[in-house]
Amino acid sequence: MCGIVGYIGTKKASPILINGLIRLEYRGYDSAGISTVEKNGLSLMKDMGRVKNLYNLKGIDDLEGTIGIAHTRWATHGKPSKENSHPHMDNSKTFSVVHNGIIENYNELRKFLTDNGYTFYSQTDTEVIPNLIHYYYKKETNSDISRLLKAVQKACLDLIGSFALEILCCDFPDNMIVVRKDSPLVIGKGSDECYISSDIPAILSFTRDFYLLKDYEFVLLQRGSAKFYDKDLNEIDKETTTIEWDASSSEKNGYDDYMLKEIYEQPIAIRETIGSRINSNSKTEFDELNFTKEYLSSVNKIYFVACGTAMHAALVGKNLMEKLCRISSEVDIASEFRYRDPLVDKNSLCIFISQSGETADTIAALKLSKEKGAKTISISNVIGSSLTREADYSIYTHAGPEIAVASTKAYTSQVTLLSVLAIYFSEILELNSDLINKLKSELLELPKKIETTLTLADKIKDFAMQVYQEKDMFFLGRGIDEAVAKEAALKLKEISYIHAESYAAGELKHGAIALIENDVTVITVMTDSKLVEKTVSNIQEVATRGAKTLVVTNQDIDCNLFDKVIHIPEVHPYLAPIISVIPLQLFAYYISKEKGLDVDKPRNLAKSVTVE
Ligand code: G6P
Repeated sequence: MCGIVGYIGTKKASPILINGLIRLEYRGYDSAGISTVEKNGLSLMKDMGRVKNLYNLKGIDDLEGTIGIAHTRWATHGKPSKENSHPHMDNSKTFSVVHNGIIENYNELRKFLTDNGYTFYSQTDTEVIPNLIHYYYKKETNSDISRLLKAVQKACLDLIGSFALEILCCDFPDNMIVVRKDSPLVIGKGSDECYISSDIPAILSFTRDFYLLKDYEFVLLQRGSAKFYDKDLNEIDKETTTIEWDASSSEKNGYDDYMLKEIYEQPIAIRETIGSRINSNSKTEFDELNFTKEYLSSVNKIYFVACGTAMHAALVGKNLMEKLCRISSEVDIASEFRYRDPLVDKNSLCIFISQSGETADTIAALKLSKEKGAKTISISNVIGSSLTREADYSIYTHAGPEIAVASTKAYTSQVTLLSVLAIYFSEILELNSDLINKLKSELLELPKKIETTLTLADKIKDFAMQVYQEKDMFFLGRGIDEAVAKEAALKLKEISYIHAESYAAGELKHGAIALIENDVTVITVMTDSKLVEKTVSNIQEVATRGAKTLVVTNQDIDCNLFDKVIHIPEVHPYLAPIISVIPLQLFAYYISKEKGLDVDKPRNLAKSVTVE
């Protein structure tokens, strides 16, 4: 985890770095720090807590350097503290380093360095890196920049684990070296300057031209130039990729929080994700895929693999693939997949879903599937992200940058893309043509229906105000609605810290109903006419035990039976998750606001988890 940012150019670096850190705070906010090249050497300022503590530090405005690196931390090794904050320096204070990732062999390296006279001042894994660079640097005899490059390369080859690194050296004050392995890092190219960051949105206001790095590509940055080297330090050419995202899409644009803004961006995110893939009069198109009927008929199983909210999108994907394409499908939590020896083989199709495309568990699961001979597809929101570089095929949601830690528009865009994918497969397999035509025309109407759903915000807020002080809530649903119940419960937990459980509506009575007592809130999603009667009975079972009931539905039901009913637009049940989740995103949002919590940056969480 953690966010890193860097600048090399002609402007004062510190304001640019701090601005970048604020945008990267969603990746962790246990501490923040900065190091710049000043006339008298490398500066180092850091503090515990949020970036605002850093920019309130005395002396930060006096930093004049035009080259610098900075870091916002999500603690893994070593508690949040000033000593454990980045940047870290070597004992001689020749090098200053920021790191995102985990060095798995840091204990061995620490022992090796201690035996060679080095002292450690923090509990972090990172502190071995500047000292290891120094160890190799001392051994190099030449005095030009190749000395620095070689020392960094040798140190990196000793590291086991994941890292994105920015390195400053006081002997070469006009240079910076960056490198990555299994942790994200992009370089934005300006006219005579470069911006470095863990993600694109943080520096999108400066440039749209990015160098996307592969593992073990070393970059030597000087003002106005970037030289790239492979693992053996042979110089290589690298082209920039232009990112089409609009810079204002990573601003709040008048909303109180990113989360609220992103909830309201869902109509456009869905419209962009469907794009030109669906046409009512012609076949569904995926330029990125070239699947045939013969191939899809040979697939024995589809594995959907993801974490968190993306895993909840996968649950909908499984439902659709089985219903529309009759291909047996499974959903795996990425962190479990690798260790359960999955029965993946060359006839398996593995689909990996990740907003960031940087989730370490998901990337590791993809690598395993490839080793086992499966075909792999990545679904991501970030062009060129690590997951997309590993997969055989990459398809993208077009939700635009998602900054709030709790995912909203990325989730509905993922579900949309999975629906389009299931339709595409079904057309290739020549199945369900009438139903497919209906779903296609309904998909095209979705953005309008989401706009209508968003007008329900005040009603949802009213209900949220009634229950925001509760300690526990339950979310129920049957079939595809259960997947939405899971996502709604997660949203509430993430940002309001209320304990929430989701259940298949019919399963509650087999145990958890013992927890229902007077005034416990039970929220049910009900969008499939075939399942209404049974689900209503399940709600009655909790209502008679005193539960307060909220129902999100587009079905014709007797509203007197429930405490509150939120009516959402009619939509085919297979597409309902894209709409029914929205009132529940707003519900979690209003509760969090009322409790005075930081909606965009909930405690203990980070948006992108780049450690396994
Ligand atoms: C973290 C975030 C979740 C997110 C999950 C997967 O845990 O807090 O909101 O759903 O990672 O992220 P990904 O980028 O792979 O979709």
